Amino acid sequence: MTQVLVAAKHLLSGGLVAFPTETVYGLGADAENENAVARIYSTKGRPADHPLIIHIADKEQIAFWAIEVPDYAHALAEAYWPGPMTLILKRSESAKDFVTGGQDSVGLRIPNHQIALELLMAFKNLGGQGVAAPSANRFGKVSPTTSEAVREELGSFLQNDDLILDGGPSMVGIESTIIDCTGLAPRILRPGSITASMIEQVSNSKLIESQSTIRVSGALENHYAPNAMLVLDEQPLAGDGFIAMGNIETPEGVIRLASPDTLELFAQVLYDALRKADQQQIRRVVAWQPPGDGLAIAIRDRLQKASTKTN
Ligand code: TXA
Ligand code: MG
Repeated sequence: MTQVLVAAKHLLSGGLVAFPTETVYGLGADAENENAVARIYSTKGRPADHPLIIHIADKEQIAFWAIEVPDYAHALAEAYWPGPMTLILKRSESAKDFVTGGQDSVGLRIPNHQIALELLMAFKNLGGQGVAAPSANRFGKVSPTTSEAVREELGSFLQNDDLILDGGPSMVGIESTIIDCTGLAPRILRPGSITASMIEQVSNSKLIESQSTIRVSGALENHYAPNAMLVLDEQPLAGDGFIAMGNIETPEGVIRLASPDTLELFAQVLYDALRKADQQQIRRVVAWQPPGDGLAIAIRDRLQKASTKTN
């Protein structure tokens, strides 16, 4: 039996499987199995009212989990799935409170990673409908972008037969764009590498800009946080870790953690750089926020949430 098939069967029997995606690694469970989903929450140490994203193998499975799917959401799925985009849709009766955190909506995503797609397809072929998976980190901590990082985060909280699949480093590096599709037009709940202009182009409508009342756990303060103190846009001092675009020089005595030359690379290496700081027991990390829109907005969002609030 291939490892993916073993993993799909383990999911179906109520076990947990951490798996790679193009954004970050996820911690998966059968989205229809209440006990299995409960284990995600206890393994992560995550409060039970935070909804999970259900990962599906293909667009056919949208109809199992969601109802009244607007045309613009279908257009987005057509354009950007498999890919780093989560659609929040009105839930069907199949999406129970234990996976939606009691909300009337459900989050769906088809990830663009070969191992994830093989796993989801094998799970579907065994009769499964979807894999609920948050990022595979302890609650509030930095999302893992390698299988080693998953082991470091969750190894001691998983059970013996639970699995961690290795698919190399995640190429996008930050979590999917979350789009609320329960209204007349789309609204971004969490920025990511599918950008506002990409969404407007395909959905043929202007984004709703106002604040949503929907809960998004990444919207809490102090998410994605390393142990080190992260400060933004300050002058780094000797002994500090430093993350900034590649054209910015490293002051003397400062420990350079990342110097990406593009925004894509910035997103790709960001979480690994924060993890490296903790491994090297660096106490303070300075990050310079990249300017611009598109992906830069998502990077600044994560930096701001990971940064240490001083008030
Ligand atoms: O890229 C990603 O999205 C990764 C990979 C593993 O797919 N997953 C991820 O999951 O980031 P998580 O649980 O760490 O973050 C998912 C976010 C949470 O903030 C949650 O509140 C929001 O999605 N979410 C899920 N379902 C929702 C719903 N029905 N309504 C509003 N927000 C929802
Ligand atoms: Mg997360």
